[in-house]
Amino acid sequence: MHVLITGGAGYIGSHTAKILSRAGSRAIVLDNLKRGHRDAVRWGPLVEADIADRSALKEIFEKYPIDAVIHFAAFAYVGESMQAPELYFQNNVVNSLSLLESMRAAGVRKIVFSSSCATYGYPTEIPIREEHAQQPVNPYGESKLMVERLLHWYGQIHGLAWVALRYFNAAGADPDGELGENHDPETHLIPRTILAALGRVPCLQIFGTDYDTPDGTAIRDYLHVTDLGEAHLAALKYLDSGGASTPFNLGTGSGHSVREVAAAVERVAGRDLPYEELPRRSGDPASLIADASKARRVLEWIPRHSSLDEIVRTSWNWLAKSAQVPAASGADQDTKEAGSE
Ligand code: UFG
Repeated sequence: MHVLITGGAGYIGSHTAKILSRAGSRAIVLDNLKRGHRDAVRWGPLVEADIADRSALKEIFEKYPIDAVIHFAAFAYVGESMQAPELYFQNNVVNSLSLLESMRAAGVRKIVFSSSCATYGYPTEIPIREEHAQQPVNPYGESKLMVERLLHWYGQIHGLAWVALRYFNAAGADPDGELGENHDPETHLIPRTILAALGRVPCLQIFGTDYDTPDGTAIRDYLHVTDLGEAHLAALKYLDSGGASTPFNLGTGSGHSVREVAAAVERVAGRDLPYEELPRRSGDPASLIADASKARRVLEWIPRHSSLDEIVRTSWNWLAKSAQVPAASGADQDTKEAGSE
C-alpha cells in the first residue's frame, strides 16, 4: 500500500510511518515542519508542505498511487486551544476540509483520522465507550469532533471510507530508540516526570491532589505510541477489506494516577523524585479510561507495549540520550504549548 501520512514528522505520525514501512507499505510523509522534526522522517519521502496546499497535494497524488491517507497533522494542545481557538479551528478543521477536498479531487477514498478522547469532554461513565456523548470542553476537542463530523458527511455524500481513532494518552518511545517524544516545550506528564528525574527540570509538579480518586491525583489511560501506531496499520487493513466507517477508542482499558506514574519513574531512576503539589490544572477531568474493546474485537488489535513500566523505560531511554529535548520550565498551567500529534 502507498499511504500518505500527514503530520508524519510528529510524535505519533513518525512512529506510525516506521511501523507501516516495516509492514511493507510505502509511507509518504506530508509535514510543514512547523512542529514536526525533519530527522523523524526516515522511512519514506518527506514532502514539506501544508495540508492546505492544494497544489502540493495534487502533485503528491499524481506522483504516488496513494491508497489511503492517515491524517495526523494538527495542533494538539488543550492549553493553547483555550488561548488561541482560531489556530485550532483554522489548522485542525478548515485545513482538514481542504485535505478532504484534495483527496476527493484525486479520487482517494480512504482515511484514518487522529481523533481524541478530548471529544468526550467530562465523562459521565468510566470506562468510556464510543457511544458516550461527545461534549468537548475545549476548542482542541471541539476541532477533533468537527473533523469527525466532516468525515461522517463526506462518507454519506461522497462515499469516503473513514476510521476515527480516538486516542487516550499517547506515551512512550520507539523500543529501538530511533524515535521519541520531542515537544518544545514538553508539558506531558510522563516526559516531565522523567526530565525531573534526570535533573533537567527542577521537580515534578503534581497538578491536583484532591481528585475523587484513590490517591487524590488524576488518572489517565496511557498507551504506548508503538501500540498506537499498530492500531493505524490495523485500521488501514480494516478499511482495505471493506470495513464500515466508524470510530474506535484506543487505550488499554486501565488507568494510572499521577502518583503511580511518579512511582514508576522512581523505579527506573532508582531514587526518589523531587516534587511539588499544586492546584488542579483547569479543565482536567479526574479520570479518563477507554473502553477499547471495540478495537480489540473488530480490528483484532492488542496493545503489547503499554505496561506502565515499558512506557516509562522506553521514554526514559529516549530522553536520556536526546540532546534536543529542552530543559524547559514550561509545564505550568498558563504556558503556551506547542506540538503536533
Ligand atoms: N500532570 C501533572 N504534572 C505535569 C503534567 C501533567 O500533574 O507536569 C497531570 C495533568 O494534570 C493530568 C495528567 O497529569 O491530570 C496527564 O496530563 P498530560 O498533560 O500528560 O495529558 P492530558 O491528559 O492533559 O492530555 C492528553 C493529550 C491531549 C488530549 C487529552 C485528552 O495530551 O492531546 O489527553 O484529555 F487532548
